[in-house]
Amino acid sequence: MIGKLNHIAIATPNLKEAAKTYQDLLGAKVGQPISQMEHGVSVIFIELPNTKIELLEPLGETSPILNFLSKNPRGGIHHICYEVTDILKARDRLIEKGATILGSSEPKIGAHGKPVIFIHPKDFNGTLIELEQV
Ligand code: CO
Repeated sequence: MIGKLNHIAIATPNLKEAAKTYQDLLGAKVGQPISQMEHGVSVIFIELPNTKIELLEPLGETSPILNFLSKNPRGGIHHICYEVTDILKARDRLIEKGATILGSSEPKIGAHGKPVIFIHPKDFNGTLIELEQV
């Protein structure tokens, strides 16, 4: 069921500083900041040969990453995204096996314009998991 690693999302209180670290210390090619109002984050994408890193900074007062940053003020890995070919099938299988899908459990359109769901960290070793249909 599980496919490629699509991205790793890292929350940071300072997007530009985080991007500069990747650029200066690792020679990464970093993109421009993009405001995703509907997702409550500003994002900088870092393209790697085999995956992407998404640096996330809160945008707005109801940003979904504010709580994470209050627990991890310097930032940290927020979630990992795996690709699936059929998100409804993946979701049904997860529910059947007792996993908790966040929100209504209906797929939403994610940051890349594709359907996504999030699985509660308690089901995956303390890691928030995003599944994206590709
Ligand atoms: Co993501």
